[in-house]
Amino acid sequence: MTAMSERGNNATPPAPAIAPGGEGIDPAQVARELGRVGMDVRITRHVPGFDAPFFQAGLAGYSDAAMRIIARRHGAPLAVTEALLDRMLLGGGHGFDKADLELLGDALPCSHEDQPLCGQIIGSDPDEMAAGALKMIEQSSRGDKAYRLMAYGDAPGPRSTDPRCRDGSKVGAVAPLPSAPVQVCEEDCTPEALLALEHPQVPGAYDPREVFASTGVRRAGGGPVPVPGARSATLSYATIDVNLACPVKKIDSKSRGGHWLRFPAGAIEILRAVRAAVPAGVPCTVKLRRGYDDTPEMARNFEEIFAASYEMGYAWATVHARTVEQKYLGPSRWTFLRDLCERYPDRPILGSGDVWDVHDIFRMIAYTGVSAVSVARGCIGNPWIFRQARQMLAGQAPTAPTLAEQRAVLLEHFALSMALNGEKHAGRMMRKFGIKFAQHHPKGEQVKLEFARVSTLEQWRGVLDAWYAEGVPDGAG
Ligand SMILES: Cc1cc2nc3c(=O)[nH]c(=O)nc-3n(C[C@H](O)[C@H](O)[C@H](O)COP(=O)(O)O)c2cc1C
Repeated sequence: MTAMSERGNNATPPAPAIAPGGEGIDPAQVARELGRVGMDVRITRHVPGFDAPFFQAGLAGYSDAAMRIIARRHGAPLAVTEALLDRMLLGGGHGFDKADLELLGDALPCSHEDQPLCGQIIGSDPDEMAAGALKMIEQSSRGDKAYRLMAYGDAPGPRSTDPRCRDGSKVGAVAPLPSAPVQVCEEDCTPEALLALEHPQVPGAYDPREVFASTGVRRAGGGPVPVPGARSATLSYATIDVNLACPVKKIDSKSRGGHWLRFPAGAIEILRAVRAAVPAGVPCTVKLRRGYDDTPEMARNFEEIFAASYEMGYAWATVHARTVEQKYLGPSRWTFLRDLCERYPDRPILGSGDVWDVHDIFRMIAYTGVSAVSVARGCIGNPWIFRQARQMLAGQAPTAPTLAEQRAVLLEHFALSMALNGEKHAGRMMRKFGIKFAQHHPKGEQVKLEFARVSTLEQWRGVLDAWYAEGVPDGAG
C-alpha cells in the first residue's frame, strides 16, 4: 500500500473487484440479453425515466448539474445529486442553493434535461432529515421558516445529536444555525492528491464568450436568461435518497452517512422520519455500505437496516460493497452483493463499487444480480461510459471518444460549469475534470500533468488548444 493510499483520499488507483469465478462473463452477451429483456420493472414503476440498468452516482465535489447534464447527454438515464446536508438545507441563506431546481434552471436553461433526478440527503437528526427531504421535494414552497419549524419546533436551531444514543434520541445543547452554503462529504471532495491540487484563486482573465455563444448557456450572476419552455416550474426530485454510506466523520460527537451503520436504531429512525415526511407518491431510497466494518455485529446492523428500509416502503437500496472503514480503498466485495441478491430476490438492489469501465457495468449485473449499477469514479471525466453502455445494450461494440469529441465535451462541460458555478469555482472544477478527461487522450499522462499545472482558466484553455486543437489527429499531441 502506498503512502497516499494509507491517507485514504480518493486518488487511489483502481482495485480489481473481488468476483471469483467471474472471469468467464462476457459483458457483450450480458448487455445484449439485457437490451432484449429491458429494465427491471420494479425500478421503472417507481421512476419511469430510469430505463437502463445504470446511472450516475452521487459524487460530492463533482456531480453538480453540469456533470449530470453531460452524463445524460451521453445516455445516463438517472443521476444522483451529491449528498446534501440536512442542516444546511434548512439553514436558509445559500444553504438550499444546490437543491434549488429553480435556481439551477435560472443558471442553466438546459437544466430540464437533468431529470429524473435523485436528491440525496445526509445528516444526523431524524427531524432535520425529514424536514430537509420535504423541503427538497416541495422546493421550499412553504418558505424556509416552515421547514425549520418542522425540524426544530420552538427551539431556535439544531440540537447536537449523539449517535451513541442507540434509540436515536436527541441530547445536548442547542447549536447555532449554520450559514455557510450547503456542502457535505468534504473529505470526498479532496482533489487528486496525486497531482497536488491546492484550489487556487482563479482570476477572471479568461473571456468565455465564445464558449457560451456555441452552447447557449450563460454565466452565473448575470441575471436570468428566459428561455421559453426550457424549464417547468413544477420540477422536483424523482426520489429522495438517504445517505447511510458516506465514510466522512467530521466531528466525534456527530454521526452522518455510513457512521449510522454502527447505530441501527438511530439509522432506522432517520429512515422512518424521512419516509413519513416525503409524500407517499415520491419514492424514497437508501444508500448503504456493506457494513461499518467486517465484524459480525456490523453485519447484523446492516441486515437490520437493510430489512427495515424495505419494510417501511423504500423502493430500493444502493449498496456500496466496501465497508465504511475501507473508505474508497481496496476492492468492493461483489460476492457480498451476489449473496444479498440471492437471499432477497424480491427486493430491488442496486450495486456500487469498482465500476471502472463499461464492461464492469454488465459484469456486475451478471455476477451479482443487481437491478442496476451505480457508476461513480468510472464516469468522472468519462461520460462516454454511458454512451458505450447504451451501445452495448443495442448489441453494438462500444466506441471510444475521438479527440474531437473529447474537445467538444470539455468545452461543453466547461461552459455549463461556468454558467452554474461562476468563473472562480468553474476553474477549480475544470482542472479536476481535465485531469480525469486526460485518460482518453493518446498522450494521457502528459495531458494530465498539463491540466494539473493549470491555475487559471486561460491556462486551462491553453491546454485545450495545445492538446485538443481541431485538426490534431487522434494519436498526435
Ligand atoms: C469523490 C467522491 C465523492 C462521493 N460522493 C458521494 C455522495 O455524495 N453520495 C454518495 O452516495 N456517494 C458518494 N460517493 C461514493 C460513490 O457514489 C460510490 O459509491 C463509490 O465511489 C464506489 O464506487 P466506485 O468504486 O465505482 O467509485 C463518492 C465517492 C467519491 C470518490
